[in-house]
Amino acid sequence: MRLPPSADILYTTPRGKQILGDSREVLPTLDESSVDLIVTSPPFALLRQKSYGNEDQESYVAWLCDFGREAKRVLKDNGSFVLDLGGAYQRGRPTRSLHNYRVLLAFCDELGYNLAEEFYWFNPAKLPSPIEWVNKRKIRAKDSVNTLWWFSKTEWPKADVRKVLTPYSARMKKLLADPASFYRPKDRPSGHDISAGFGKANDEAIPSNLLQIPNTDSNSHYLRTCKALGKEAHPARFPKELPRFFIEFLTEPGDLVVDIFSGSNTTGAIAEELGRRWLSIEIDRTYATLSAIRFMAGRSVEAVRSAVELLTVGKPLELEGLPLLPESTEIEFDLG
Ligand SMILES: C[S@@+](CC[C@H](N)C(=O)[O-])C[C@H]1O[C@@H](n2cnc3c(N)ncnc32)[C@H](O)[C@@H]1O
Repeated sequence: MRLPPSADILYTTPRGKQILGDSREVLPTLDESSVDLIVTSPPFALLRQKSYGNEDQESYVAWLCDFGREAKRVLKDNGSFVLDLGGAYQRGRPTRSLHNYRVLLAFCDELGYNLAEEFYWFNPAKLPSPIEWVNKRKIRAKDSVNTLWWFSKTEWPKADVRKVLTPYSARMKKLLADPASFYRPKDRPSGHDISAGFGKANDEAIPSNLLQIPNTDSNSHYLRTCKALGKEAHPARFPKELPRFFIEFLTEPGDLVVDIFSGSNTTGAIAEELGRRWLSIEIDRTYATLSAIRFMAGRSVEAVRSAVELLTVGKPLELEGLPLLPESTEIEFDLG
């Protein structure tokens, strides 16, 4: 990889690199068919401008396709591209924008991706919006689901659902304990044969494509450290369980995971923890710099402050890439 003059390696860890640059310029420097998974959350085509910048809804699809085209070139034949896209209302109207569906169609029809499966991220903690339609006029329900398009380069991306099994619900455990009291084996009208074997316990259940993940982080090491340094944390982070699910599902240890809109580098941090190699690209120096905090869990605030200062003036750092501490771990901050 020979970076374009406009991009820099900001920091490295044992398994990854954080690049400061525009992904449209950095992606062309990556080798063809070298990436196992791209998992990312682009700036959304929201109507309200956010501090991290948005493209107009009209040009949004074409803009995202520029990234999608290069992304496809760098993906391995069995590689996947998971795109997290929030929905939006049309400006001033109580009807939805179709941009996330237009992106889906453009990626498949124009760029030649396959839709391996559509996923939905249900965030029960999402605040009601837009206020006008939901809270004031009460004519729309709360929008708490993001679409997650799982694109693949070929029809046979690497995937193993056994790596992301979920615990059974209480009801399912009851059924498995006493299947006969719930149903008798027979053919269903649909033609599906629900045989007695259905009642046999495997360890865990196959997950559905509705991922229920609350985005409620208010006390992580990253957030507390940003606060202690007097810096504003990235305003649009996804929860680490989101990239974790797809990294475990679609890659193996040692594989290369890329995030082309890396923000606070949630993806790189989880990839590091899971033993995958990673490459994250972020265009904003402040966001990219503060993302280094995720790899400095064992350092004092003063040591983090010095490291962040070095990154801010453009001195690349090698970080330990410590495993993430559990969110509940108390970190002592010297705020004096
Ligand atoms: C929704 S945020 C991603 C947040 C990330 N998933 C996290 O958990 O922190 C999108 C990010 O894309 C960055 N971005 C926008 N255009 C970019 C580009 N051309 N190349 C690289 N990053 C870009 C923005 O600065 C912003 O931080």
